[in-house]
Amino acid sequence: MELTECLKDAFEKAFPGNDFSQLAVLPATDARFGDFQCNDALKFAKTLHLPPRKIAEAVLAQLGKPEFLEKAEIAGPGFINLTVAEKWLADSLAKVADDAHLGIPQAGAGRTAVIDYSSPNAAKQMHIGHIRSTVIGNAIDRIYRSLGYRVIADNHLGDWGTQFGILIKGYRECLTDAQRENLTVKDLEEAYVKSSTRAKEDETWKNACREELVKLQQGDAANHALWERFIKISIDEFTRMYDLLGVHFDTWRGESFYNSMMADVVEELVKRGMAEESEGALIVRFDAEGLPIAIVRKSDGGFNYTTSDIACVRSRIADYHPDVIIYVTDDRQQLHFKQFFIICAKLGMDVKLVHVPFGLMSFGGKAISTREGNLIKLDDLLSESVRRALEIVLSRKDDKSAEPTPDDMELARAIGFGAVKYADLSHDPATAVDFDWDKALALEGNSAPYLQYAHARVCSLIAKAGAVGTADAFAVSTPEEKRLALQLLQFGATVERAARQAKPSVLADYLFQTAQAYSSFYQRSPILKSEEPLRSSRLALCRLFGDVLAKGLDLLGIAAPARI
Ligand code: ARG
Repeated sequence: MELTECLKDAFEKAFPGNDFSQLAVLPATDARFGDFQCNDALKFAKTLHLPPRKIAEAVLAQLGKPEFLEKAEIAGPGFINLTVAEKWLADSLAKVADDAHLGIPQAGAGRTAVIDYSSPNAAKQMHIGHIRSTVIGNAIDRIYRSLGYRVIADNHLGDWGTQFGILIKGYRECLTDAQRENLTVKDLEEAYVKSSTRAKEDETWKNACREELVKLQQGDAANHALWERFIKISIDEFTRMYDLLGVHFDTWRGESFYNSMMADVVEELVKRGMAEESEGALIVRFDAEGLPIAIVRKSDGGFNYTTSDIACVRSRIADYHPDVIIYVTDDRQQLHFKQFFIICAKLGMDVKLVHVPFGLMSFGGKAISTREGNLIKLDDLLSESVRRALEIVLSRKDDKSAEPTPDDMELARAIGFGAVKYADLSHDPATAVDFDWDKALALEGNSAPYLQYAHARVCSLIAKAGAVGTADAFAVSTPEEKRLALQLLQFGATVERAARQAKPSVLADYLFQTAQAYSSFYQRSPILKSEEPLRSSRLALCRLFGDVLAKGLDLLGIAAPARI
């Protein structure tokens, strides 16, 4: 049940063809008139050329009498006042509290989703540009699993392409023996930068790089062994980051995995008349769609990103029979996804393809860019977040000079990583995000520490209370109780909406609003000091809030420690 949705629906039925997407149902300003109010009949008087009361009457006629409403009345010039049915609230809360999924509908049961995220390019350190794909992708992954989907989380590594010729040459000639022996991703990065800089000014060097690449592609043993070593080192380094972030992949099929399937794809495109020759290359046109052409085989015979992604969809369909494949990448790749989605549809591939593009992350107002070299390494960002969180943890202890305990360290990681993730996830993925330490780590405001703190407080309240009454003890009557109850009942629908829109921010917004509803409930309603059965009822409400908050944070990949 979503009150706003219901009213929107009634407005739309009463006045079809108008845009009511901005319609608002707000908590009532005066509890004597009900629990909620909607003032939009007044707002639409002009557009609809009707007195607001007439509009309100037509809307209520469409609304009818849903079971969760006790009363719906018109007041004054055309306010709609709504009173929620207490019995319905109490029964619904009991159902959610009893449900192992806390009301999350198992809408994905029997369905499979492949989620392609993080997918960094090998032989480079991860920088904060990679955090968005990893964090947003992982939240979508967790959200889909919670809905009952079988999820295949696939890390589509950039592990093939021209950079490996440059890298092999750089490895052999730009590194010291010591570096080659204890090779790290940092060394690989250095080899790449030195070798590619050289290739730009030195034609012989450039050709030598090309030769190394051709040898690799033709299966030369030495080059292939080097390539394998580079990939292994990269994967180990990425895994270290993923372990810190609590991210786990089911498969790591990089671009190289699809190598042997690409010639087949091109052959089929040609056979179906979808690809044509142009200046030695094979291209696909998108005249009808008004998009630029895509190259599927270069003039030197090499395949590229489009070809590999088509082969990849084919292979995923054969191996996993997915209902949907979701890709999380930055928004500069939008054209690429549009193009190969169109090709897949024309090839009759039976799967829903979704691209979730995200905007860039900047840092203190400054863009991060590879070329300017002011990249913040993910590793450094994460260590810094733990360092800052530990300061907060230690400042809240009685003995401020005590050495941090292992518990303090664990708490600092929960808060630090949580802050970084939430700073990203609380924004619509499509928008750019400016990361700000003070905002991310604030104990007040829309931040992970605020939510974690709210959770820890509920945990300590419940611990103090001893036994909490059974779930059927819910009784909901004050406006604060009702508002919190309605929020908690929307958890399942919110998770489903976050999945449908592929926006973890929908869930983040919800958690923040719910925490605010809890906070006003907590301020105005005595809990431990109230008489039974009210005490048990309120405690049960608190516990349900704690459970929903912990589950919601978990779906965002954020820990909810019992104490802060
Ligand atoms: N490796 C690419 C990058 O770093 C992202 C790959 C996304 N996945 C895909 N199937 N194209 O930008």
